Amino acid sequence: MKTFNLFLLILVSGSLLFSSCKNTGTKTKDVPAQYAELYRPQVHFSPPSGWMNDPNGMVYFEGEYHLFYQYYPDSTVWGPMHWGHAVSTDMMHWQNLPIALYPDSLGFIFSGSAVIDVNNTSGFGKDGKPAMVAIFTLHDMKGQKAGKTDIESEGIAYSNDKGRTWIKYDKNPVLKNPGQKDFRDPKVSWNKETKKWIMTLAVGDHVCFYSSANLKEWALESEFGKGIGAHGGVWECPDLVQLPVTGKAGLKKWVLIVNINPGGPNGGSATQYFTGEFDGHKFTNESTDIQWADQGKDNYALVTFSNIPESDGRCIAIGWMSNWQYAQVVPTGVWRSAMTLPRELSLVSENNKYILASQPVKEIQLLRERKAELKPALVKDVFDLDQNLAQPLYPIEYQLALTFPKTEASSDFGIELYNTKGENLLIGYDKNKNEFYMNREKAGLSDFSKDFKGIHTSPFTFSGEPVEMHLIIDAASVELFAMQGRVVMTEIFFPSEGFTGIRLYSRNGNIQLDSCTVYKLTTIWK
Ligand code: FRU
Repeated sequence: MKTFNLFLLILVSGSLLFSSCKNTGTKTKDVPAQYAELYRPQVHFSPPSGWMNDPNGMVYFEGEYHLFYQYYPDSTVWGPMHWGHAVSTDMMHWQNLPIALYPDSLGFIFSGSAVIDVNNTSGFGKDGKPAMVAIFTLHDMKGQKAGKTDIESEGIAYSNDKGRTWIKYDKNPVLKNPGQKDFRDPKVSWNKETKKWIMTLAVGDHVCFYSSANLKEWALESEFGKGIGAHGGVWECPDLVQLPVTGKAGLKKWVLIVNINPGGPNGGSATQYFTGEFDGHKFTNESTDIQWADQGKDNYALVTFSNIPESDGRCIAIGWMSNWQYAQVVPTGVWRSAMTLPRELSLVSENNKYILASQPVKEIQLLRERKAELKPALVKDVFDLDQNLAQPLYPIEYQLALTFPKTEASSDFGIELYNTKGENLLIGYDKNKNEFYMNREKAGLSDFSKDFKGIHTSPFTFSGEPVEMHLIIDAASVELFAMQGRVVMTEIFFPSEGFTGIRLYSRNGNIQLDSCTVYKLTTIWK
């Protein structure tokens, strides 16, 4: 094994001075008590209390972004599933609303989607205004306990008051189980060509596409995926979106997102995707490799918003920031799990394939409070970015570009978050292995699960371009969007005291820091 002469020599020392002298104190100042816990995300959505998993029913309507989510309010572990609900006008600040959907005699309310039925195809609209329609899985827990397998079916509900109250359709289920054990997580979208609704449904080791004229009657169109892509676990939470290819005027491709658990590239849950064509009936895959939307361990159930206005035109996704390997035992207090930041998705053409790239939505700028910029510098061994932070440094946004000097190019470099307990988190690039990594071997608490600790990687080979990294660091999470979002890694961590320091490191050679901008972010819970 390689030995590193770590952090011994400070050749260049830079202290990061924010351009505003406003001091926000610790991250918890002015924040309601329940959002002031050590591991409470300050710029990510987490439920007020109780258990949360997948984002559900994300839809935009009349100035509001709706985030529904898998929710069990009575405990911090998974249980009878409800749809929790929050709304936002900017996807950053969320207002918690009452639970939208409760379990009923047909079962728990599992994951699904929501659409605005603009043409009133369902007849659920009222007074000339379209209904918001939720399409979800009914999971019959009693049936499961009795050993039945056909326990999942799809139901719908509608709201005529901007998602505040819901009426479940009295003829549920609208799609009965055809004898499949796993038959869930409907994602519905309007297909402009066929003028029908398309439901993408996860069915064990494949997806099925169903169509409907009215959201109430569904017909099977086709299936995709048996023996194609990653199959280390069950397919869940699929999504089907069409995206323009960046820089190729007029060219659009379809992206089929398929979450999988377990079987992710670093263990447990993860999000894979396929690119190709969809003719309104059938998906034709053009991906030749297995591709992942995020190679960190803590992005799952990533799906997109419906009904983002065409004038906006973005495709925006949110994932659940955890992993089924340990989600139920992480050391948080009255709540468990947070969502990723909303991400804008785009498609990039590279080496004869299409890469799904992600960046935090531009609304993150609303949270930028103080800005600091570092001058270009040569980094050898350690480069302190801030030696004076006497408080947890998060939430913070960090954008930097590095290049390799021709002669002494570093073999391994990155950013280290650390605290006074000797704990750290490393986010870096290993040039010999051609991979980005997150190393949470010593990032604090981990004995709650054997699967938590470790070094997790995302392959990437440079072709001489600068290394670009964009990081969003919150109380217990980091999201890396590197190389213009072509490499994405999301990981959570639980230091025994907040990380108070941040530095760059470079092993076995130098790197050139070309630019570095840091924004202190404000909490969304003030
Ligand atoms: C994915 C998932 C879905 C299911 C839901 C249940 O995390 O297993 O397939 O609908 O969670 O909470």
